[in-house]
Formats: sequence, C-alpha cells, structure tokens
Amino acid sequence: HAKFPAVPQDFQSKVPPYAKLLKNLAQVKQITNDAPLTLAEKILYSHLCDPKESIVSSNLHDIRGLQYLKLNPDRVAMQDASAQMAMLQFMTTGLPQTAVPASIHCDHLIVGKRGEARDLVAAISTNKEVFDFLQSCGKKYGIQFWGPGSGIIHQIVLENFSAPGLMMLGTDSHTPNAGGLGAIAIGVGGADAVDALTGTPWELKAPKILGVKLTGHLGGWSSPKDVITKLAGLLTVRGGTGYIVEYFGEGVSSLSCTGMATICNMGAEIGATTSTFPYQEAHRLYLQATGRSVLAEHADIALNQFGFLRADPEAQYDKVIEINLSELEPNVNGPFTPDLCTPISQFGETSLKEKWPQKISAGLIGSCTNSSYQDMTRAADLVRQASKAGLKPRIPFFVTPGSEQIRATLERDGLIKTFTDNGAIVLANACGPCIGQWDREDIPKSSKETNSIFTSFNRNFRARNDGNRDTMNFLTSPEIVTAMIYSSDAQFNPVTDSIKLDNGETFKFNPPSGQDLPTAGFEHGREEFYPAADPKPQPDVEVKVSPSSDRLQLLEPFPAWNGKELKTNVLLKVEGKCTTDHISAAGVWLKYKGHLENISYNTLIGAQNKETGEVNKAYDLDSSPFDIPGLMIKWKQEGRPWTVVAEHNYGEGSAREHAALSPRFLGGQIILVKSFARIHETNLKKQGMLPLTFADETDYDKIGSGDVLETVDLADMIAKDGDNGGNLDIRITKPSGEAFIVKAKHSMSKDQIEFFKAGSAINYIGNMSRN
Ligand code: F3S
Repeated sequence: HAKFPAVPQDFQSKVPPYAKLLKNLAQVKQITNDAPLTLAEKILYSHLCDPKESIVSSNLHDIRGLQYLKLNPDRVAMQDASAQMAMLQFMTTGLPQTAVPASIHCDHLIVGKRGEARDLVAAISTNKEVFDFLQSCGKKYGIQFWGPGSGIIHQIVLENFSAPGLMMLGTDSHTPNAGGLGAIAIGVGGADAVDALTGTPWELKAPKILGVKLTGHLGGWSSPKDVITKLAGLLTVRGGTGYIVEYFGEGVSSLSCTGMATICNMGAEIGATTSTFPYQEAHRLYLQATGRSVLAEHADIALNQFGFLRADPEAQYDKVIEINLSELEPNVNGPFTPDLCTPISQFGETSLKEKWPQKISAGLIGSCTNSSYQDMTRAADLVRQASKAGLKPRIPFFVTPGSEQIRATLERDGLIKTFTDNGAIVLANACGPCIGQWDREDIPKSSKETNSIFTSFNRNFRARNDGNRDTMNFLTSPEIVTAMIYSSDAQFNPVTDSIKLDNGETFKFNPPSGQDLPTAGFEHGREEFYPAADPKPQPDVEVKVSPSSDRLQLLEPFPAWNGKELKTNVLLKVEGKCTTDHISAAGVWLKYKGHLENISYNTLIGAQNKETGEVNKAYDLDSSPFDIPGLMIKWKQEGRPWTVVAEHNYGEGSAREHAALSPRFLGGQIILVKSFARIHETNLKKQGMLPLTFADETDYDKIGSGDVLETVDLADMIAKDGDNGGNLDIRITKPSGEAFIVKAKHSMSKDQIEFFKAGSAINYIGNMSRN
C-alpha cells in the first residue's frame, strides 16, 4: 500500500511501474508461502503476466531452470545494426505505435579513424539511408531516436533509462550493462524485441541464480573490470549459461554505479542471461547526478516493500562464488577469448612462455564497458603523472567516450585536453574499434605478423577490432591500458615497475585516483545529439525504404500454413557442428542486416555436406552442383519447399535471428535434426518453420539429399498437442521409390503452434491486433 509521489508527465516513461510490480510480487509471495527470494527472482516474477500461471510450486527449485515464464518487460532498446530487422518486423504487424517505451541508438556503424569530427561526417554519409530509415521509424511509432554520435546504447540507457527493479530487453548482447543500476536487462534478437514492442508476453525459461559474494574493499590499481575478468577466468565462457548472476555482500558498497555496470556488461562473456546488483547508496547518487531524483525517491519507497530491490536475507542461490576485493589484482584477459585470465603480476612471464608479442602496438580505452567518469578520471590521472615526468605515449592511444554527456563533462573538466595534449585521438561517441569499425592506419588488415593491443573493451574474438585475425586483443582496465602506452613493453607491470626516463632517472606511477561522479554535475553537451524527451507517434510519417536499396528491404509476411501436409525435398544433410555462424555468417554480411534477400545469400555457406564432405555445396535432383544458397534460391523459384537434416546442437552460438529468417525466406519448411540449441529452435518456431528432432537419432543415417520428406497427419498434431510438444510421423520416399516412416518429435507450446499456423509469430501478433 505504498504511496508514490507524483511524477511529471514527460518523466513517466522513466519510472518503473512500482505499484503494479509490488502487487504482482505480493501474489508471488502468497503462492510461495513467503519463501525467501533472490533479487533477480523478485524483479523477474514481479514482471509476470500472471503469477499464478508460472509460479506452480512453493518450492523455487521447481521453477528455476524448469518453468517457462511469460513476462511483460517495461522497455526496449535497440542498436542501429539490429534495430533494422526489429523495425522491419514491427512494421509488418501494422500496429500504430509501440506498447512500451523504446529507443534506437546509432552507435555500431561509425568507423573510428581520425577523431570525432571527421569520422562522424563520413559515417553519416555512408549510412545515411539506414539512419534515415531508423529515424523515420522512430517518428512514426513514437520511439526515441538517438542519432549517430549521441553515444553508445548501453551508456545512454544507464544515464537515462535503467532503474532499480526495471525489466528491459535490448537487441544487443551487452544489454545487461543496465544491471549496474539494479535492473534485469536481457539481450535478445529482433523478433523477441517485437514481442515486447507489441505487448505480447515474452517467454523465458526461469534462469537459475548464481550468487557472487563480494567481500573486502576495492582499492589501489584494482577496478571493477578486474572483478568480472577474474570471474570470467573462474567460470569460463560457458559457466554462466542458464544463470542470472546476482552480486551481494559487503564489498558491493565499495563500488560505484558505473563500476557495477562494467561488471554486469561483461557478464555476457560468461554466457549469463544477465547480471544485477541490489539497490545501493551509489545508485541513489548516480540517479541524482543524472537528473533522476524523483526516480530515486520512488526506488526508496519500493525498497521498503518486501525489500523489493534487494534479495531476502535467507535467499538461496543455486551456486555461490566469493571474491575478496581487497585481494584482487588487475587482470589482463586474452588473447582471443575473454576467459583466459592472467593477473598483471604474471603477465610478463606468461607472455614469454606463450610467445605473445613483447611490444604492444596500441592502447584503446572507452566503449560501453569502460567509459564512465570514474574510468576516465583515473586514466587521466595516470596521463598527468606521466606527462609531469616528461613521458609521451610510445604507441597510438585512442579514447572513446560513451555518450555526449560523458564527453561534454570530460571536456568541461579538462580531461579531453589532458588526453589530446598527450597524443590521444578522441573518437566519436560510438562503438568504433570495439565492433571492428576501426580503420587502422599503423598495421594493415592483411598483415600476417602477430601484434597485440591492450583495450578496455569486453570482447576479443579474432578480427573483432581491426579485421586482422592476427591482432591479439588483451582486455583489461582503462587504468592498465593507459599505463601500458607509456612503456609498450609486455614485461612492464605498472603496479610495481618503473620506467626509465631520458635523463637517466626512473619514474613510477602512483596508483590511479579518480572520482565516481563529477563534482560540478554532468554537462549536457551539444543539443543536436539529443532526441525529444517523450516522443509521440506520428502516424503520417512515411517510413523511407527505397525499392532499389541494397541495404534495406521491406518484409513480406511469410505465408500462413495452408492446413495441409508439408511435402518437401531434402536439400542438404549437414555433417557435424552447425552454429549460427555456419547458418548465417557475420563479417561482411553485417552490412545487409536490414535486407533479408541480400543477407540470405549467406545461408548455410559454412555448413559441411555429409554426403560429399564439401563446405557450401549442395546438389540438385539431377546432381548438378550449386552453392547452398544458390540451390535454395533455385528451389524457391521452382516452388519446391525443402528440409535441412542435421546433427546435434544445431544453431548453437547466438540468438542471431537471420539464421532462422533466411532459411524461411528461401523456402525452407522443416529442419530435422538430432538436437537443437534452444534459442535457435525458438527462433525457427517464431519464423513459422517446423523444427523437428529424430525420435531415434540413427534415422539420420537413413535420409539422403533429394529424398522426399512428408509429414503424416500434421493437422492432427496441430489440433491436439499442448504445451509439452508431441510426436509426428515423417514419410521418407527415396528417389528409387522406396518409402518408410521415421518418427520425429516437436517441442512447440500452444502459442508456438499458433505461430506455425499463422506463418510466423509476427503474423500471429498482427492478426491478434487486427481482430
Ligand atoms: Fe558497442 Fe562494443 Fe559495446 S560494439 S555496444 S561498444 S560491446
């Protein structure tokens, strides 16, 4: 029965609906006989569409990892690369506006080279069509549009939208960054974002909860980045899969809000669904500093109801890991995987043993992971110390501010000048080198010589930053990156070692010092980078997509099921591992994310043909050879639907929705495999495909390309199957005329059967909204 103070009209979309959430939570508490809940459970379960439907037991272990939850997220954020397909799909529903507040952020398409002024002009001209499209979608549907140069999606979300107890979806894997401010924020594909944008319940299997207990106190050279790089080292890149990571313990109070965001951001690197922190004094201060005192007042009240914004004292975690912050030393993670963790004190020795380059070639700080005021003041402190001793950087040094607000504040407080006076290039407020948008001048892409860079980013897969597979990216804190540019020697440990000066003396850094928040408050910056506060939908706005564009293409709804059996030919039998990278390659294809036809030329080009051992080769019924998408296109033109047969864990890797959209677009109807990766299986269902698994996996051996594969009594299955999937017989007819039945299984829920009938989840949503 809490009373919340009134919120000004144009601020309402920024305050979670606490009264409603608390009401839901009260119901959950009643069903569970007041069982102690973790913070993650409180936030998730308070967003259930109907707590009675999902909370089936008072024993929470009957729910975690087992029960599907139907949730109502509060907000959606989309970055420019993935927003294109999300918007194209949303448009097909015919809805006039989004059901929840949403924002689009132009950050992924800006190439970093010479610095903000020149790079931004170039990016706007190269990507004008995409930016104009997204802007017109924003206007038409009432979505806040943050244009190129305004900042990186996760930094802007933290500064403006994240809130304790909020639940949001974002079309980017580092969306969990918002958990630094006590939210549950989950990275998803465009079709999932459309669920939330249309007000359709969003389904998630209840995650298990991994508790990370922080003890001690962070200080000296150690930083929040070292908490997560240490955890990645302990858990590996798969250790967080199926879990929400929830931090607790007295060590939390030594972290800033932005430091907590850094930790949550890189939870993506251990495969966690998301990460979150309990509401703290640091959150209150950050909300006040970013102009959201009203929200802090609401959060204070919500905290006092069932301790909403913190875990219950007796809450049970599925697993607990303890990290003592007082013993934490700076880590350097990499190369090529974010879980290869080396403490800085051992880096020199390990680098010799592993034959990593001894000369570091560049240092880069910023990105969505580490561009806070705290990060930058600590880095600038080291630059000032070095400069006072007469030192100059020995290698190129790049700084990427996370948002216009951060950049303007750094400029006002003299930090930008400190960086540029000491040789740094300040890039646009965008992803830049973090997502491969780095036109690197010192080392060409084609160079076969290994080089190493130190960055404060979050990912370090091969070729991620400069397109060069031989660049080793070592992930570390901005402080360590900054110190290393003055030595460029892998043997240098700034915590203990000195640098020799030209005059024969030596210089040793003092531990960096900085400020969590600017004393004079944040500076707003240039007005042109800000959108309207609370945009209203403008139905008359025309969304611009040129029919001759090679980057954008309007989507045609996929056809609904005609009520008959599916009769297909087997186009390909895939051998071995087939990830979403094999099904829908990235790299150069990213350019076509908004053009389904053009990106579909990459479909399954990485797959290996079981019958011939060849990659990207399939054979027509008369044995003529084709590349795989080539044969799909031919069969589509001939009106010949097809099936792909494959082995285990088909579609593992990512939530990349083009891996389901493209096969459907090219005439695929059935994917029959030994087993699926769950997210990809869901994506196939969302696009109206029929994903089936062999009841007896040895039947895989009996099927060959060119065979006719037909369903038997599909209508019966559709009519009777409920939420736990069911069985389906498949008739196989060989080119010789021999025919036999193979038993298959499906895992469609009632809702997913409706997607299949309608032709796709988006068609279904569109039909519902029209009726
Ligand atoms: Fe952008 Fe890199 Fe973050 S791509 S969203 S800065 S992880």
